[in-house]
Amino acid sequence: MKPKVYITRRIAQKALDMIAQVTEMEVWEEELPPPREVVLSQVRDVEGLLPLLTDRIDGQVMDAAPKLRVISNYAVGCDNIDVSAATQRGIAVGNTPGVLTDTTADLAFTLLMATARRIPEGTRYVREGRWKTWGPQLLLGQDVHHATLGLVGLGRIGSGMARRARGFEMRVLYYDVLRRQDLEEDLGIAYVDLDTLLAESDFISLHTPLTPDTRHLIGPREFGLMKETAILINSSRGPIVEPKALHQALSTGRIAGAGLDVTDPEPISPDDPLLSLENAVIVPHIGSASVATRTKMAVMAAQNLIAGLRGEPLPNPVNPEVLRS
Ligand code: DGY
Repeated sequence: MKPKVYITRRIAQKALDMIAQVTEMEVWEEELPPPREVVLSQVRDVEGLLPLLTDRIDGQVMDAAPKLRVISNYAVGCDNIDVSAATQRGIAVGNTPGVLTDTTADLAFTLLMATARRIPEGTRYVREGRWKTWGPQLLLGQDVHHATLGLVGLGRIGSGMARRARGFEMRVLYYDVLRRQDLEEDLGIAYVDLDTLLAESDFISLHTPLTPDTRHLIGPREFGLMKETAILINSSRGPIVEPKALHQALSTGRIAGAGLDVTDPEPISPDDPLLSLENAVIVPHIGSASVATRTKMAVMAAQNLIAGLRGEPLPNPVNPEVLRS
């Protein structure tokens, strides 16, 4: 008998084919995530679960799935999963690091440039038929080249941003809980404390995972330290920034703009006041959204799932203590 698995959305066919060969799989086919009751009932007999970052997989879900042995997240971030609850229950958790690094760094840099040079405002201006002449004051933005970029978090994606910034001859500062002296020379970056980074940067880009320590890392005090011309870029997780403080900073001119791939909550409500601000450039969590990268993520998630079902160490484990080689 093949083990049963539940996949909470249709992912790349290549990965589904791999999973179908060795399991009896059930896929949630809708565009929106499965409701909580559906997840709770679908996991009853499964040994493997492949969720997305939109699915909250906590102790309750795990308790509803007594045969569950592996949770293979289709994401690098695992804040949707209670990993310690999984570890306590002997359930292996896997994720998809590495394959989305450059694609996500591309998007973060795109947001930085689009916000600095007011690209969404410019395209709206043209489409609305308001472009009557070339004007010396029309849609003036901020220079990216030679500006100071502050990276909060120097993991894979933060380092990718530093590499991109070199092409624009930017000065790059970083802050992380772990200083990475080994990377400083190679990336041409300087370590500073968080307050110095916030005060000196023209662009502040967030690249930390969401943990209890990083939730609301950027709030009123931190906005207060930033330059009035600063632009905040968030392509990590929405709750790292306090939403009210963000709105206040953007609407009062405390900072110049924000480019956001992630919001709190997600999705953002269509009547959220942030959406009425021209200086907030918001896209719907598409950091890793290229055909090639999403296919790689799906294959990686399939490999983690299959290894876990075989009782083998996952190629990309989040809690390696569960299935050691
Ligand atoms: C992740 O993987 O954590 C991203 O947010 C989505 O690709």
